[in-house]
Formats: sequence, C-alpha cells, structure tokens
Amino acid sequence: MWAWFVRNTGVCRPCWAAVECDLSVCLSVRLSVCLSVVMAESGSQPRYHFIIFGASGFTGRFVLEEVARCAGEAREELRWAAAGRSRARLETALTQAAEALGKPELKTEVDIIVADVDDPESLAEMCKQAVIVLNCVGPYRFYGEPVVKACVENGAHCIDISGEPQFLESMQLNYDSQAAEKGVYVVGSCGFDSIPADMGVLYTRDQFKGTLTAVESFLTASMGPEGGCIHDGTWQSAVYGLADSDKLRSLRKKFSHKPLPVVGTRIKRRGALFYSDEIQQYAVPFMGADPSVVKRTQRFLSEEHQESPVQYGAYAGVGGVSSVMKLLFAGLMFFLLVKFSFGRKLLIKFPEFFSFGFFSKEGPTRKQMEGSSFRFAFYGEGYTEGQDPSQGKPNAKIRTLVQGPEAGYVATPIAMVQAAITILNEPDSLPEKGGVYTPGAAFAKTTLIDRLNKHGIQFSVL
Ligand SMILES: NC(=O)c1ccc[n+]([C@@H]2O[C@H](COP(=O)([O-])OP(=O)(O)OC[C@H]3O[C@@H](n4cnc5c(N)ncnc54)[C@H](OP(=O)(O)O)[C@@H]3O)[C@@H](O)[C@H]2O)c1
Repeated sequence: MWAWFVRNTGVCRPCWAAVECDLSVCLSVRLSVCLSVVMAESGSQPRYHFIIFGASGFTGRFVLEEVARCAGEAREELRWAAAGRSRARLETALTQAAEALGKPELKTEVDIIVADVDDPESLAEMCKQAVIVLNCVGPYRFYGEPVVKACVENGAHCIDISGEPQFLESMQLNYDSQAAEKGVYVVGSCGFDSIPADMGVLYTRDQFKGTLTAVESFLTASMGPEGGCIHDGTWQSAVYGLADSDKLRSLRKKFSHKPLPVVGTRIKRRGALFYSDEIQQYAVPFMGADPSVVKRTQRFLSEEHQESPVQYGAYAGVGGVSSVMKLLFAGLMFFLLVKFSFGRKLLIKFPEFFSFGFFSKEGPTRKQMEGSSFRFAFYGEGYTEGQDPSQGKPNAKIRTLVQGPEAGYVATPIAMVQAAITILNEPDSLPEKGGVYTPGAAFAKTTLIDRLNKHGIQFSVL
C-alpha cells in the first residue's frame, strides 16, 4: 500500500515532498524516518541508516559490535556500514566483531567505506550514503570538524562521543545555523560523556513533583578483580583539551550569552577535594564535559521552551586516602607537564606511567570491562507544587540513580547507538529544526531514557 502510494504519486507521505522515494532503502513506515528528506537535500540516496566512522578504533570497534547487536534486535532491516581510513583495519574489526558476537556473516555482509578526515571528498562521499554518521574518530579537536562539515553539507545527521567542550561548543558556534537550514541534527557527547549526566538531570527533574532547582551528581566507578583502565584515545583528548583551556574561555565569549537565571537558592560549590557523605569517600569536582553539557541543555530548555533551569554541580568519587595521594601527585604532574610541548609529548608517550595505570595504550581487556561498572547518584532539591521558588529555601529533595556497565567501551556504545536509533525512530520528538544540540536538548522529548533502561543503563528514583 505504502509502496503503491509512493510509486504512483511520487510523494513521500511523512514529508509530503514530491521526491522519488526508493523503498528498498526507505524504512520510514516502521522507523518513522524519511530518507527522502536527506535525498532531496543532497541529491543522492543514502544507502545506509548508520555509518560508523572510525569503526576500527578502540571505541569504534565496540560501537560496531553494538550496532550489529541492535540490528539483530530490530524488526526491520537496519542497513549499516563500517567506515574508516584503512580497509584492512576495518576488515580486522569486522572479523573480531564476528567472533565476539558469533555472527560470521559480519565478515562478508557489512559494507566497508574508506574515508579519511584529510580527504574532504571521501568524507562527502561517505556522508551522502548515510542517514546518520556515528563518528568515533577522535581526538575531536583534531579530526572532528571536517566530519561535522561534511555531514551538514551532505545532509547526514551526525552524532559523536566527544567529551571535549571546546570542540562541542565550537561546532555549535560554527554550524548550528547551517545545520538548521539543512534540517540536519548534530548531537555531540552521546557517550558516557555526557548522556548519563545530561539525561540524568532531566530524569530527576521529570520525577520531581514541583520545580526542581538544583542537582548535584556524584560519580563512582568500580572495577572487578581484573582491574581496568581507559584507552589512550581519551587520554590524548584530555591532554590536548587541558593544554588549550584558555581558548575555551575566549570561545564562550563569542556566544554573548546572558547569564542563566538562578531559580531558587543558589547551589553551593564544594571544595577542590572533600569527603562526601553522599558516597562515603573523598570526591573532587568532575573535570570532564558533563557540567558544560548540562548547562548548555538547561540554557536551551530555558530559552527555547521557557522551562525553569536547573543548577548543576558534578563531582567524582576518588576513594580513600591512598587514592587521594595518587590523584594529587598525578594531577600535579599532569597540570605542570600539559602546558609545555615537551611535557605533552611525555604525557602522550607514557600514559600508564603518568596516570598510575589508569590510562593505557592497550585499553582494558574484555574481562576487565565485564567486571566494571559506573554509578551516578543525583541529589536534587526544589520546591513542591504551589511553592514559590523565589520565596524561601527549597522544601523538597529527590534522589535518583543512573547506573550501568563499564563506562568507556560498554556504556558509551550503548548510549551512542540508542541515541542514533532515537534520531531514526522519533524524528517528530526531536527539536523542531535541525541544529547542533546537546543530548538533553535533542532528546528531552523522546523515549531515549526508556531505550537506555532496556539496554542496561538504568535510571531509577531512590
Ligand atoms: N564519551 C565517552 O565517554 C568516550 C568514551 C570512549 C572514547 N571517547 C572518545 O572517542 C575518541 C576515540 O577514542 P579511542 O580510544 O577509540 O581512540 P583510537 O583507538 O585512537 O581511535 C581513533 C580512531 O580515529 C581514526 N582516525 C585517526 N585519524 C584519522 C583520519 N585522518 N581519518 C579517518 N580516521 C582517522 C583511527 O583510525 P585507524 O583505526 O585507522 O587508526 C581510529 O579508528 C576519543 O576522542 C575519545 O575521547 C569518548
């Protein structure tokens, strides 16, 4: 019936555009996405719903596995391909995924696209073939922008797992209006950075009966008997990110944002190191992208939807006294070395040494990942219904939890793939126009949290 309608009218019903719609690739009936929107923009037909760019990288290989797993769950065919700069490395990645998942067909049935960040034509060719590019090529400060540009120009939505505020915010500054014109959604930080924190604050707000005005989150990560670590790719992103932190300040001035209004009592900032009664261990302010991503989401929801903004403080558990000593020593070395080119070279060359084994060039083993998990505890406060937040102190509290498997290479692929599936399945629940968005801004009205709950990242009220 649907095929007949399109073939005989030349009109694609979801967008009512008079364009050709190739139903062999358009799964819009079930997946609710109209590939013809993209076709109309780019003049060519996307062959794949997802293209994983950087699928041979450490994280990319786990994203590839997660896509293969989710493609197996889908009722309709999900068409996807693996992309990167080396065909041989992509073949190896597919062989490894085939073995890990017991799906030998991955070796022969998944298409490979060779594309290099340094070759804009190859990126354009890749983007023309995708509804959504899942970009795993980092550090994003070096490799991210050409991918965003190619996606926007060629009509592919783009999501990444960057935890680098400077990259994320400069993409918003430089590509938001162009992406809006093209109807393209660019959603950054869709991994462990920063979906649990950003969606966790929204979940806490939605569960609170009244006006939630402030949330503090406390992150703890645990490892099994095999231990664990983080791959070098994230270490590199952190080293170069901190080296460049001055540029972030000047970048932010270019937005000319007015300060976000403070609703309710102003949240108290904790010290640089303190004992947290909430998680019964020492804690420090969370150094990653989460606070800036959450703030951008709150700004978007406040300015675009007149929602009451929630203040946010993010902290991470360190452990006991011996861990604190290690952190102080490693932190001091890091901040001293990161400011000089020679120091950065040392940090990049010896991640294990300078991080006490927390980062490594090999990354964690599968066994280590199986034993690891994360837990985000959210402590919110606000005003019950009928109470005026401009009068007196908050009179109600809420505690919520977001918890899940190993953060970097299990939770991150789950979050990224579910974010991509959400864009594909729920176009009507995304912001009205395309643009560069945080996860919270893009997915506030979608069922992403339900999807994450079903895939092992659990949101709950305590
Ligand atoms: N949000 C989170 O929580 C989270 C979690 C994990 C990772 N990440 C981020 O993800 C990024 C990747 O980390 P990783 O550990 O997977 O690093 P990685 O193993 O070094 O992967 C980097 C990938 O980039 C590719 N690449 C490099 N230069 C390229 C070019 N010119 N053209 C095309 N591809 C190129 C590499 O290709 P080859 O395979 O051919 O070498 C590789 O696939 C980092 O920015 C990291 O911070 C974020």
